[in-house]
Amino acid sequence: MKISSFDLIGPIAILSERTKNSKKTANYLLKAHKNIKTVLIKTGKYKGLYRLPKLKFIAGVKTTKTIYRENKCVFSLDLSTCYFSPRTASERLRIANQVKKNEIVLNLFSGISPFSIVVSKNSNPKEITDIEINKEAAKYAKENLKLNKINNIKVLKGNVKNIVPKLKKKFDRIIMHLPKTSKRYVPLALKVLKKNGTLHYYFFAKKPRIQFKGLKQIKISRLNQVSPGKYKFCIDFKKL
Ligand SMILES: C[S@@+](CC[C@H](N)C(=O)[O-])C[C@H]1O[C@@H](n2cnc3c(N)ncnc32)[C@H](O)[C@@H]1O
Repeated sequence: MKISSFDLIGPIAILSERTKNSKKTANYLLKAHKNIKTVLIKTGKYKGLYRLPKLKFIAGVKTTKTIYRENKCVFSLDLSTCYFSPRTASERLRIANQVKKNEIVLNLFSGISPFSIVVSKNSNPKEITDIEINKEAAKYAKENLKLNKINNIKVLKGNVKNIVPKLKKKFDRIIMHLPKTSKRYVPLALKVLKKNGTLHYYFFAKKPRIQFKGLKQIKISRLNQVSPGKYKFCIDFKKL
């Protein structure tokens, strides 16, 4: 049977919106792949402040809670209340591989903390501060710290806009994975980024043409396609 692409998050398969005959496809997946226990279908784009996907249950065990593993880490989450994408797994490792010993890292828009946990597990930062507005995602982030036996990440629940101005320190590296709207938070992030510090800035575009005063482009990475001709990009900037 020909199946259009699907994401696998632990035992939950998520069919793409383009899938034709989703019930037949779901039953085929459940039979052919013993590791798949639940099949959902994406019925719309990530939406709203919390960037939640629109998902519909199709077959198998009716749940949106899952346990997912990547990059030597394990994550617990509820797909209906928290943003998560397995497509960013190699990007998380790319960032982790850049982090030097004893760095102080700030992860804005941290969700269930996959970037921070992959960084903490795969490199040697001194400490990481996470900021997340969705209290369900922040709750799972704290659970994930325990699951991964991590004690150098602090999760702050609230709005980046209110919390960043109150931070007492400056950071070697800032991650901004909110591709839809993070542009408006760049001036705030720059206030707490050290000179020569690195900013990982994510955005959606057809072509990656973006510049900010006081930042030098170091590397552009093209990640997954989000609509015809449009991609998610990351630009690594250095603060001048
Ligand atoms: C695209 S998701 C990325 C989550 C996580 N970094 C990841 O890679 O899985 C963006 C996250 O930012 C959070 N968010 C949106 N606006 C925010 C704000 N102003 N302050 C704090 N968090 C915010 C959303 O709730 C969501 O969890």
